[in-house]
Amino acid sequence: MEISPLTPGIGAEVQGVSLSAAPGEHTVDALREALRKHLVLVFRDQPLSLGALDAFGRRFGAPHIHPATPGAEGFPALLPVHTDADSKTYAGSMWHSDVSCDPEPPMGSILHLHEVPDTGGDTLFANMYAAWDALSDPMKRLLEGLSAVNASAHHFGGYFGYKGHEASENPFPESVHPVVRTHPETGRKALYVNETFTTRIVELQPDESKAVLALLYRHLAAPRFQCRVRWRPGTTVMWDNRCTQHHALWDYYPRTRSGYRYTIAGERPR
Ligand code: SIN
Repeated sequence: MEISPLTPGIGAEVQGVSLSAAPGEHTVDALREALRKHLVLVFRDQPLSLGALDAFGRRFGAPHIHPATPGAEGFPALLPVHTDADSKTYAGSMWHSDVSCDPEPPMGSILHLHEVPDTGGDTLFANMYAAWDALSDPMKRLLEGLSAVNASAHHFGGYFGYKGHEASENPFPESVHPVVRTHPETGRKALYVNETFTTRIVELQPDESKAVLALLYRHLAAPRFQCRVRWRPGTTVMWDNRCTQHHALWDYYPRTRSGYRYTIAGERPR
């Protein structure tokens, strides 16, 4: 296995691994280690059937079932990510950590795209350890110990107009999570508020909360914390939702971009 960093701080391309035969223990351990180090892993030229993507994802953990969007036919754990000339909305339109509104948000996600526009449709990823580390000590002291509401009715029910699906008892979850969380594997602190789901900081006055969140959203989107992934058909990207955020670009209308996401279950942020 060969690992080539995309930037010094986030992202790496992994060569020499085939994802179509679910990898053995040794390879899974090596990929987990690479994910801890680089936060986002990019695999090229991996034509994957739905079954192979599902099997690969399960090597990293049980699936997280999306609360509002039904999975693919026969594969409830695979979330369709599809945009074409008829689309009115798209996934990833603002910075976010996947489904942070859940009481136990997913630890990671694996997105496989089989059809992409010849140019455009890149995904930006940002390092939330770096965003936290770059804050001043007085700002860190203000934020540490604060908690924030992560809601979804405005996003899933509003932006997407979802009604929920049969497997979901609560399509629009809302949860309170720490503003800064500690990664359970690395022990490092990462900023954990995002402009898609986080609506307010519980302990602050409404105006204070609005101002602090606006400052943090601007801060965490600084280019120095980012890498940018350009997709090709068969590109598969795995990311750690506990210490990254991502933002997909829809600059390719009316062309098609299509694939599936296996989302890996996680634990309550602390
Ligand atoms: C997502 O938010 O999971 C979608 C990301 C993408 O389409 O690149």
